[in-house]
Amino acid sequence: MCGIFAYTGKKGKDAGGILLNGLLSLEYRGYDSAGIYMPESGSVKTPGAVAELRKKIPKDFKGKSGIAHLRWATHGEPTAKNAHPHSDCGGEIWVVHNGIIENFKELKEKLSKAGHTFKSDSDTEVLAHLVEEKLSAQGGSASGRNFEKAALAALNEVRGTYGIALQYKKEPDRIIAARMGSPIVLGLGDGEHFIASDPSPILPHTRKVVFLEDGEVAVITPESHRIFRLDATKVKRKATEIDWSAEEAQKGGYEHFMLKEIMEGPEVVRNTLRGRLIEEKGLAKLGGLEGVTKQLEKVDRIIMVACGTASYAGMVGEYMLEEHARIPVEVEIGSEFRYRKAVINERTAVVGISQSGETLDTLEALREGKRHGALTLGIVNTVGSTIARETDAGVYNHAGPEISVASTKAFLSQMTALALLTIFLGRQRGMTQKEGKEIARELKALPEKIEKILEQRGAIEKLAKKYSKNRDFLYIGRKYNYAVAFEGAIKLKEISYIHAEGCGAGEMKHGPIAMIDEHFPTMAIATKDSVYEKMISNIHEIKARKGPVIAIATEGDKEIARLVDDVMYVPQTIEMLSPILNVVPLQLFAYYFAKEKGLNVDRPRNLAKSVTVE
Ligand code: G6P
Repeated sequence: MCGIFAYTGKKGKDAGGILLNGLLSLEYRGYDSAGIYMPESGSVKTPGAVAELRKKIPKDFKGKSGIAHLRWATHGEPTAKNAHPHSDCGGEIWVVHNGIIENFKELKEKLSKAGHTFKSDSDTEVLAHLVEEKLSAQGGSASGRNFEKAALAALNEVRGTYGIALQYKKEPDRIIAARMGSPIVLGLGDGEHFIASDPSPILPHTRKVVFLEDGEVAVITPESHRIFRLDATKVKRKATEIDWSAEEAQKGGYEHFMLKEIMEGPEVVRNTLRGRLIEEKGLAKLGGLEGVTKQLEKVDRIIMVACGTASYAGMVGEYMLEEHARIPVEVEIGSEFRYRKAVINERTAVVGISQSGETLDTLEALREGKRHGALTLGIVNTVGSTIARETDAGVYNHAGPEISVASTKAFLSQMTALALLTIFLGRQRGMTQKEGKEIARELKALPEKIEKILEQRGAIEKLAKKYSKNRDFLYIGRKYNYAVAFEGAIKLKEISYIHAEGCGAGEMKHGPIAMIDEHFPTMAIATKDSVYEKMISNIHEIKARKGPVIAIATEGDKEIARLVDDVMYVPQTIEMLSPILNVVPLQLFAYYFAKEKGLNVDRPRNLAKSVTVE
């Protein structure tokens, strides 16, 4: 997820100031590098966010139009070189992009052969060169060439997801936008027009906006806007009057970032999987591990180190990797691992899982692993973060920035990345093609299944209200959903400040069951899998002690509804992927529970998003 903002307007107005202020309200979308291009002044790019960019902009950087970008890196390190806007060879075509161009490698190869020189590692840069190529293919004198036609021809060759703004030095008034999977909104002002990833940077200037649909292209000038499809047919769309505040616009109309991020679940799983599954061969292609493939073949033990939610993703990964890749795995919280004398050698891989890539205990645990000769890997969301840089190799989550302190979408992407790693390592170790294919097929089906769960959020909200007076909760699960019990409990306690305890369902009778009475509800993760019968027995044990039970159950399981007090249903998937679905209703339950209590859901007391101290 990146943020884009473009402006074309009246003489006398400072486009640079408008663009920089606009970027500020898009910072929630990405903040590892920033850049601006104005045809009259050129480009400025920098690692860091808007404050850094502001410092680097010279006093005489002026103009009446331009494009600007905030990056959340997916391809290439977050350096000035890789920051947007990107340009063609001649420095005349400029582009800002949110999304991933999937066929960029083949396009880059073709364009390089045709003589284009690339300046960055970014997938985006190919688009600028492709437009340049299409322009020169039109022949004739440079002044007679048609930018719009060239842009349209180029966009028709690009595969992937994008929200894009394109500008041509020779036609500074005109900016072209296009949308395929990543949001684009046009702002219609009086003698000025805007393009942005969401309405928040537009709202200080005008409340009249037009949302683009996938496959649509728009052209703005100070006085006009036009919309058409990729096949050049015209689109007529009325403007919408926005009555949101800028802050509401950042949250996409949701009340909190946490809910917005839960709702992004399907997209996040798609993004983590994008380009990484070769379904017909039952293989996973993980570019970040290519350099260490041989070393990975020799690894005979994995230690996962992580903190908080990331450590629960690790516990799911442990079960996936042991069952399907047959490698011994241990999971340990960073703060423990770094101080004990674990037995590690060169055949050990230490895998750090971290959304931020900066959690100190995880980082130090990885460093400890490295000191003992282990291969270190990262499963990290933030490109270029310390963990990403210091590990030998890794897999990026591609989940986009997570703003809410309580981690939700990152957890889904961590488990998805671990499933990819399971296929990758499993196929090195005798996993059959059939098994690889089945996991790949089920992975691809997850986003739609998550959507089905999200559709039930109204019912989950009612349920959270029903239980909102309770002060204690027990969460139980077994096997793959053992970790989900812990994650469900931590979500509730961190944002609601009430007591919630995760427990292996089988372990309940060794202590926690003593707490159960009619005021102490249990959340039981009891989807149809190899431990379903065992879970049902545990639920009976709770019911016998008058404990209320809410079950997470598989769609169509009517029997469980007769046994428990309330049910949240999820679609069926294979057992190893069930946590990716089962955690979603628990995230929604925790969210609505805290909301009902009127708490600051996105910024819970005493907690930080990224813990960079011991
Ligand atoms: C903090 C956050 C948690 C997160 C944990 C690990 O405690 O509040 O949401 O799970 O850190 O963070 P990381 O960035 O390493 O995944």
